Amino acid sequence: MVELTSSFMLEYESLDKDHQRLADIVNQIVEAIDADEGEKCEDLAINFVKAAKSHFAKEEALLIKAGYPNVEKHQGHHRSLNTKMDHIVEFAKMAGENQMARESLRKELVFLLMDDVITADMDFKNFLVEKAKPGEA
Ligand SMILES: [Fe+2]
Ligand SMILES: [Fe+2]
Repeated sequence: MVELTSSFMLEYESLDKDHQRLADIVNQIVEAIDADEGEKCEDLAINFVKAAKSHFAKEEALLIKAGYPNVEKHQGHHRSLNTKMDHIVEFAKMAGENQMARESLRKELVFLLMDDVITADMDFKNFLVEKAKPGEA
């Protein structure tokens, strides 16, 4: 199970809510695997990828609007996750009958969420916090 403690928060509500929603889906997948209900993983993984892609688009639009200087780099980072997310859906499709696919799914998904989605966003946390300070806009 993953838990988004305060060090993983951007302190930017709409993005933090999206991250929590992604973490909730990851936890549903982990629960399904632990309960030997691997057949539930495919739909959940497809939902995860959809939610992640719409979150990335929203985050990029917000960073552009805020004038974040490294937005292209972060967009490139998001794009680089497409292949990983394809693999996650493939593992999820096999999760019903394949133990190795379940283990790969669990591991890859938790890494993707914690490293590639949440920790990578810490690059712009200070920028958003500074931006939000009153009187300095
Ligand atoms: Fe994000
Ligand atoms: Fe991001």
